[in-house]
Amino acid sequence: MTDVLRLNPHVAELPPYNAGMNIAVARSLTGLADIAALASNENPYGCSPKVKTALALLDPSRYADPACVVLRAALSDKLDVAPDRIVVGNGSEEMIAAVCRAVLRPFSTVVTVVPGFGLHEIEPRANGAKIVKVAMAKDLGFDLDALMHALRRKPSIIFLSSPSNPVGPALDGDGLSRLIAEIPKETLLVLDEAYFEFRDEKTPDGIKILADSGRSYVVLRTFSKAYGLAGLRVGYAITSDERLAQAVSSAKTPFNVNAVAQIAAVAALEDENWMRHAVAKVTAERDRMARQVNSLGLFVAESQTNFLFINVGCDSVAAFEHFLSHGIIIKPWKEPRFETFIRVTVGLPAENDRFFEALKLLNADLSEVRTGQ
Ligand SMILES: Cc1ncc(COP(=O)(O)O)c(C=O)c1O
Repeated sequence: MTDVLRLNPHVAELPPYNAGMNIAVARSLTGLADIAALASNENPYGCSPKVKTALALLDPSRYADPACVVLRAALSDKLDVAPDRIVVGNGSEEMIAAVCRAVLRPFSTVVTVVPGFGLHEIEPRANGAKIVKVAMAKDLGFDLDALMHALRRKPSIIFLSSPSNPVGPALDGDGLSRLIAEIPKETLLVLDEAYFEFRDEKTPDGIKILADSGRSYVVLRTFSKAYGLAGLRVGYAITSDERLAQAVSSAKTPFNVNAVAQIAAVAALEDENWMRHAVAKVTAERDRMARQVNSLGLFVAESQTNFLFINVGCDSVAAFEHFLSHGIIIKPWKEPRFETFIRVTVGLPAENDRFFEALKLLNADLSEVRTGQ
């Protein structure tokens, strides 16, 4: 029957999303109970205990507020942005989809980077857009000149995650300002700040730097990473203006953010201290892990996130299997030219130690192969 059904070719031909392996799957594959899940950039410290207290107020029999009025008001206070410019999503991934649906037409052009975040390619392609991928520089920082060159095509959207997923660095104030100045008026800048809370102090706040830019923009943030609410699915878009917010809102499903997620996000915002403490522990661990990886002579990219992008010097899928056999889930990178890179999330200190021990074994095996021993 399905062979006569005409599928949307833009969707049927999409590349798969490279999702981190689920813990239950890893348990059943390895037979190990103790799994270190270091693939999906979650917060190893969980979420604020106040979130769990707030959830006792939930009435599951009622529909959630489709406009997320209370959460948008809380975000408006925190960010000093009018609530009419904020749209809340079922994760920021839904906002990526809604922005594409609101802006793109078949054959629109979208610029992004490689290596990049999968959905910055998948969602534009699902809408029939053509993707132009700009390679990161040799040191895996942003290649500003190449990005500016690509902007001459006047794309409909430029998607950038800064701090970058999967690499880790962020655009500095100067770089971001130079880029903003070059963005054509007809191009929408989507600055994806999923890892905003982990950035270095000197890295600018995209919402502030874009405020008076006169450009069309969307800044994306999420509760999945620093706030520890990945399982509940809540993220948001800050738009340059109300008209754009309205279009993005029309492109989402009406009751997109469930009641649990809305209550949890408001409670999480009321306990920012808890989040800041967790972020401080994670960033200290990240820097410790980077020093350890460096000590093995392996390349690790600069990171202002809660993960590291490492060249392990062998096929990333083989590396993934190696770590899995030690009860550790990491993410193998699969984009062309980066097939020897893995991305590892910063976990609890004991999990990070376990990762380093397994990395040492992998590296020792490879050295033996290289020296023919
Ligand atoms: C750069 C980036 N943007 C968006 C997302 C989506 O996050 P969520 O949908 O959980 O808010 C992620 C998740 O990994 C990400 O890394």
